[in-house]
Amino acid sequence: MNNNTLTVLGIETSCDETAAAIVQRTSDGQGTILSNIINSQIEKHKKYGGVVPEIAARSHISVIENVIKSSLNDAKLSFNDINAIAVTAGPGLKGGLLVGLTTAKALSMARGIPLIGVNHLEAHALTIRLIKKIEFPYLLLLVSGGHTQILIVNDVGKYERLGTTIDDAVGEAYDKVAKLLNLGYPGGPIVEEQAKRGDSKKIKFPRPLIYSGDLNFSFSGLKTAVRREIEKSIPLTKHDAENICSSFQDAVISVIINKLEGSIKLFKIKNPKITKPDVVIAGGVASNKTIYNSINNLSTKFGVTLHVPPQGLCTDNGAMVAWAGAERFSKNHIDNLSIEVKPRWPLDPEAKAAIGAGVKA
Ligand code: KG4
Ligand code: ZN
Repeated sequence: MNNNTLTVLGIETSCDETAAAIVQRTSDGQGTILSNIINSQIEKHKKYGGVVPEIAARSHISVIENVIKSSLNDAKLSFNDINAIAVTAGPGLKGGLLVGLTTAKALSMARGIPLIGVNHLEAHALTIRLIKKIEFPYLLLLVSGGHTQILIVNDVGKYERLGTTIDDAVGEAYDKVAKLLNLGYPGGPIVEEQAKRGDSKKIKFPRPLIYSGDLNFSFSGLKTAVRREIEKSIPLTKHDAENICSSFQDAVISVIINKLEGSIKLFKIKNPKITKPDVVIAGGVASNKTIYNSINNLSTKFGVTLHVPPQGLCTDNGAMVAWAGAERFSKNHIDNLSIEVKPRWPLDPEAKAAIGAGVKA
């Protein structure tokens, strides 16, 4: 590390993890994680089958101080070593965002450290560059509990959205299927596990919007089809549930692959000089190995190189926020203390709203 190395504290409180991390970025773009502390609230929300915003905000308040202290201790650093404080300013749950941003503002003011408000989606989008040297532009499949989008990442702060969900996010669909089957929360990892023991061709679930001619997604109808299948099959055996999970996941994968193929074609038209584009999967659902393997098997056919961050950096964490802050700081994107939380904050403000959308960002 040289003198131009940035050391950034990242704070994440947009959903049900209170997280803080210290990350370094050299001037030539190499990243190192010095600490990465995550206080997960999963146990507190489990019995409700989803995140309860009020419980989440209160929990952030009670643990944030210790989480930040631990991130410094683990990195063996003090505030004097920190060049910038990056914090998720949106999108996400307002109460949680306020806890993180207010804490970051107070630290920034008290210590005289620059503040950077980070878009949570940008943090997911750039995480891969913390691990690997991937140049812009690349194609991004962003799949999480709140978002399902395909974007071209042209540069830090420069995103072009090609498609988005018009209703539920893919992670949300996994969570709802798990809830319908009484499997627990969060649903993604549990449904993926159950799916391994099931028959993916047993039930022919719909492939929503597969012939829509655009790059948008819809998962609400698929969830309804799963609910109907469950109602029809009661009482369910363990194997029935495994078949439902497997067939549901098969439908999700078919749609994702179809939309990704269309996006790759569009990316190549827009970037004719790039012969083998990089495709990155990011967000909590990116930790699903079955989805990754299915896409990876087609990467030669599609003429792309596929990348996914390690599992712990796919789901929400502080390192991704610190890294996005370091990337922004290196381009002089610094904020002042008047920034506010943005519970809705699209990465590509120019993108047209998808028809019918309760679009999340
Ligand atoms: O990115 P993330 O941690 O939080 C949001 O920003 O939403 O993503 C959480 C979502 C949850 O819906 C969870 O069920 C889903 O990611 N998820 C998965 C898997 N692991 C987490 N979905 C499918 N398969 C998985 N293995
Ligand atoms: Zn996320």
